Amino acid sequence: MTPQFSENEKATFYAIVEARKSIRKYRPDLPPRALIEKILEAGMLAPSGKNRQNWRFFVCTGKKRDEYLAYSQKSWAGIKDVLQKRLKPSLYAFTERFFYTLGGAPVVVFCYSHNSEEERYHTSIGSVYMAVENINLAAVAEGLGTCTMGAPFEIKDEVDEFLGLRSHPEYQAGQLELLCSVVMGYPDHDPPKAPRQREGRVTWLD
Ligand SMILES: Cc1cc2nc3c(=O)[nH]c(=O)nc-3n(C[C@H](O)[C@H](O)[C@H](O)COP(=O)(O)O)c2cc1C
Repeated sequence: MTPQFSENEKATFYAIVEARKSIRKYRPDLPPRALIEKILEAGMLAPSGKNRQNWRFFVCTGKKRDEYLAYSQKSWAGIKDVLQKRLKPSLYAFTERFFYTLGGAPVVVFCYSHNSEEERYHTSIGSVYMAVENINLAAVAEGLGTCTMGAPFEIKDEVDEFLGLRSHPEYQAGQLELLCSVVMGYPDHDPPKAPRQREGRVTWLD
């Protein structure tokens, strides 16, 4: 039976969706591991093509997270020229600082797709991003913030190596592909909601 939700529950759902925004400044305290696990669990409730559940998450905290900063700084080199043309100088400087520090986020989750001949490539990729958005929303529900980052893709081979994937059987079979990272922690700023455009986004055909 389709579950029925009260008006309050519905309002809470939409409030969480609305409240989600990319957080780029975090408090240093590490969320409890059980909480991170609960949020990832919400991710793994997402739909996936043929129910392959082809997401693979690698969670870095502590020393490993600190070591990743050097890589994040490298990923900036691959992106900065494009951003310099697009962003005003103050936002460019803020973004550069974010890449250098990850805004102090104590958790970095690397999100991979396990690709397979059983499934179309784009379906596999899309399935992982479904889980990523569940993670983003669950984090908001728990009072945490996140920022999804495509930046690690710039240095994907180095990230694979950093995470020690060379010995992973799925990696050895050429089936693991890094898509993004999700940095996570308790927010330490409240940025304005990035504006949304509506024009040309939805076409109705009756
Ligand atoms: C696939 C993907 C990749 C992204 N990569 C980055 C990134 O590398 N660095 C960054 O600061 N933000 C990144 N973002 C966050 C977007 O900039 C952000 O979602 C967008 O500006 C809308 O703002 P909002 O998330 O606050 O609503 C990424 C978002 C997505 C969905």
